[in-house]
Amino acid sequence: MAIITTHNLSKVYNPETVPVHALRDVNLEFEEGEFTTVRGPSGSGKTTLLNMIGGLDTPSDGYVEVDGTRITGMKDRELIDFRLNHIGFVFQAYNLIPVFTAYENVSFIMLLQKWDKQKMKERAEELLTAVGLKGKFDSRPKQLSGGEQQRVAVARALASRPKFILADEPTANLDTDSAMNLLDMMEKMNKEENVTFIFSTHDQRVIDRARRVITMVDGAIHKDEKKYPPLKGG
Ligand SMILES: Nc1ncnc2c1ncn2[C@@H]1O[C@H](COP(=O)(O)OP(=O)(O)O)[C@@H](O)[C@H]1O
Ligand SMILES: [Mg+2]
Repeated sequence: MAIITTHNLSKVYNPETVPVHALRDVNLEFEEGEFTTVRGPSGSGKTTLLNMIGGLDTPSDGYVEVDGTRITGMKDRELIDFRLNHIGFVFQAYNLIPVFTAYENVSFIMLLQKWDKQKMKERAEELLTAVGLKGKFDSRPKQLSGGEQQRVAVARALASRPKFILADEPTANLDTDSAMNLLDMMEKMNKEENVTFIFSTHDQRVIDRARRVITMVDGAIHKDEKKYPPLKGG
C-alpha cells in the first residue's frame, strides 16, 4: 500500500484577485522506503506540493492521504498531532531555534512527544553523532556552519522516528562536500531505518542520487521516472 497518495491535488493562490495555479490535478503515490526527488524550475510548485503532503497548507481541490488517513480537512489540533507523530520536516520555514543548542533542537520534538528522559538523551546523542556532530552537542545554530545546521535539521527530523521525511531544497546554500555528506546521511537513514524521503531540489548533483525523479512544470507532473539500480551482492 502507498504511504502517501495525492488525489487530484490542486492549489490556486489568490483565487479572488490574481489567481496563481501552483498545482494542477496532481495524482501521485509514494511507497514506503522511497528515496524520491521532486525537481523543476523555480515557481513550478515544488514547495507547494511538499506543503500539501505535509499538511502545512490546504489544497483548493483534491486531497492527501497519509498511511490511509485523509489529512486534508482534519481539524488543526488533530493535524498538529498527526504531523508530530508521522512526518519529519527539513524546511526553510522550520528553522532551528536559535537560542537552543544542537542537542536541544534535536530533543525538542521528543520532549513534545513525552519521551522518557533517558531514551530521549540516547536518541538525541545517537542522531547527532550519526550526522557527524559529535562534540558539537552544545553549539547553538549561529556557531555552526550552514552544512552543520542542515545536518542538525535532519537529525531533528529523524528524532521522532517519522515514517517519512519531507525536505524542501535541503542542499540549497551548501557547498558540494556538505551537500554530498548530507545525501550520504539521508541515504543511510533510508537504507538502515527504511525512512521514506521526498525532497525537492533543482540541484543536478542531488537529482543524480535519487531513485525516483518527479519533474514538475507549471504546477503539473511532467515526468515521473523510476530508476532501478542493479542489486549489489545478489
Ligand atoms: N503564498 C503564496 N501566495 C501567492 N502565490 C504563491 C504563494 N506561494 C507560492 N506562490 C506561487 O505559486 C507558484 C509555485 O510556487 P512554489 O511552490 O514556491 O514553487 P517552487 O518551490 O517550485 O519554486 C509560483 O508561481 C509562486 O509564485
Ligand atoms: Mg520552493
